[in-house]
Amino acid sequence: MYICLCNNVNDTQIRGAVAQGASSLDDLRDVLGVASQCGQCACMAEEVLACEQQRLGLFYNAGRQGHRAGQPRDMVAATALA
Ligand code: FES
Repeated sequence: MYICLCNNVNDTQIRGAVAQGASSLDDLRDVLGVASQCGQCACMAEEVLACEQQRLGLFYNAGRQGHRAGQPRDMVAATALA
């Protein structure tokens, strides 16, 4: 599913970037160009980022204000919690 239409970035690419260490929207912007133009994809990109980090057992770093309750604001570790 396409997430960022301006840059032709899909959820698989975002998941791959997370697996490679991307931990914030800023990281996704740097690596894939997500949210670097119109910005309409930012929320969805963060959703995919959070889901993939959760799936991989990583803490979620919202990277900007407005993170959801129950999710740590700051990146604590880029390693699995187990
Ligand atoms: S849809 Fe991602 S920057 Fe426009």
